[in-house]
Amino acid sequence: MTRQQPLDDPDVSPFDVARAAAERIATVTGVERHDIAITLGSGWASAINLLGEVTHEIPARELPGFHVPSVPGHSPTIRSVRSSSGSHLLVLGARSHLYEGRGVRSVAHGARVSAACGARVFVMTNASGAIRPEWGPGTAVLINDHINFTGVSPLEGATFIDMKDAYSTRLRTIAKTVDATLEEGVYFGLRGPQYETPAEIRAARVLGADLVGMSTVIETISARESGLEVLGLALITNRAAGVSDDVLTHDAVLAAGRQAEPRMASLLARIVEHL
Ligand code: HPA
Repeated sequence: MTRQQPLDDPDVSPFDVARAAAERIATVTGVERHDIAITLGSGWASAINLLGEVTHEIPARELPGFHVPSVPGHSPTIRSVRSSSGSHLLVLGARSHLYEGRGVRSVAHGARVSAACGARVFVMTNASGAIRPEWGPGTAVLINDHINFTGVSPLEGATFIDMKDAYSTRLRTIAKTVDATLEEGVYFGLRGPQYETPAEIRAARVLGADLVGMSTVIETISARESGLEVLGLALITNRAAGVSDDVLTHDAVLAAGRQAEPRMASLLARIVEHL
């Protein structure tokens, strides 16, 4: 039997669990306040080597509310990094996805912990499929908006929050000063874990989406609820279903991520330097 997790208890506030994790992070790292939180998705893990000096590494399972991810390619640690400019970065390698079945609170936890650690900026990276045919594997895309097609929200109760500029125009402008050639697009967020049908991708295109994936939207909503400014960076690992006839596999997505990883790592590190 799996152990009852605090986030599973509807009588426990997810913000209390986030605060408990943040207190533990502050105690272990000796850093009272982290400035920027960064979630590393598939294809982005090696960015850690360029972001600065890793001063502490905490296994996710030692922090309240975090689970060990079930997806190969995801690294289950939370790291505190000192950047060359002296900022404290909180790098989240432990990310939960809706398709893992641990509930929406688990998906939202990283953003809530980041806010509880004092961060103002939340950088999210991911691997996505391209709905736009001109974006081949290896293309980096700034997310400028999303369509939440997961059918769920991390917000509980009558929590009405504004979602205009959810992906901060200010932060996108900064990212473009680092690389003016960065593409921008609307992210279509689905629960998965199955990849989409060609008809779903055609529908997403009609609705105004440019790229597709199974993460990010829930975290962005939570981040906005907690007052964080969000920067979303996607690595295109494949053309979405029907955009190309290639058979989609998780291994192929990971392989494309690995190939682009050094370039993405350097891009992310340069952007973070400017935030
Ligand atoms: N669809 C959904 N999620 C993904 C894809 C895709 O094509 N590629 C990487 N993550």
